[in-house]
Amino acid sequence: MGSDPHVTIVADPEALAEAAARAIVEAATEAVGARGSFKVALAGGETPRATYARLASPPWTERMPWRRTWVFFGDERGVPPDHQDSNYGMASRTLLSKVPIPSGQIYRIRGEAEDPEAAAADYARDLARVFETRRGEVPRFDLILLGLGVDGHTASLFPGSPVVKEIFRTVAAVHAAAATVPQRFTLTLPVLNAAARVLFLVAGSEKAKVVKATLGDPATLPAAMVRPATGELGWIIDRAASALLPAAGAH
Ligand code: 6PG
Repeated sequence: MGSDPHVTIVADPEALAEAAARAIVEAATEAVGARGSFKVALAGGETPRATYARLASPPWTERMPWRRTWVFFGDERGVPPDHQDSNYGMASRTLLSKVPIPSGQIYRIRGEAEDPEAAAADYARDLARVFETRRGEVPRFDLILLGLGVDGHTASLFPGSPVVKEIFRTVAAVHAAAATVPQRFTLTLPVLNAAARVLFLVAGSEKAKVVKATLGDPATLPAAMVRPATGELGWIIDRAASALLPAAGAH
């Protein structure tokens, strides 16, 4: 069933960005020390924005091994990279365009693709090439950042979506009727659960109910199915989002 979550509660979104930037630098330093490279999948949505801005600022930006860092995305929306809803666009504006990471080491999902299935297959090939995995093997990220939707979705793994049950593909195109941008692309659960480290970043009182549901859930919500088999699972949650959790130490 994978490792139990390590939950860190911080005061507010600012403190979350600081704690997350520190955790990312620690994971990067450890990975480069042990394996010579840091392979990370970034999260989309609003919550990680402040973390990316913090990572692009001193002291964190100087401490990151940017030249040994490879960046992928946990999911993407079916829009072009310069669209306001693009996860790549957001990460590029707040972080990637501001740090000395070689452009050849940034892999975005072609959200604008006419043929979503082909774009998902292309991304799976990018993963296999960079992680040097063969057919049937799953890439092992050093770190995957994730958010949490109020319905319990994470990346673009939505409740009730057949993609949640995917066991072969590493990347899938998803049609999420309820989402602002229904056409989506996502890393699948086998990839999330093969990671060395997964870190959820969650903020805001509107998330309190789903945080309680997810951390107390035996795995019906997609976010609760994220349990790295041989990796660490961390949650950094702000006080507002943790408001319904049982007293400290009980979760
Ligand atoms: C996306 C995300 C998605 C996100 C949650 C939380 O593309 O929308 O990857 O999984 O993490 O929806 O989003 P917020 O941080 O905006 O609340």
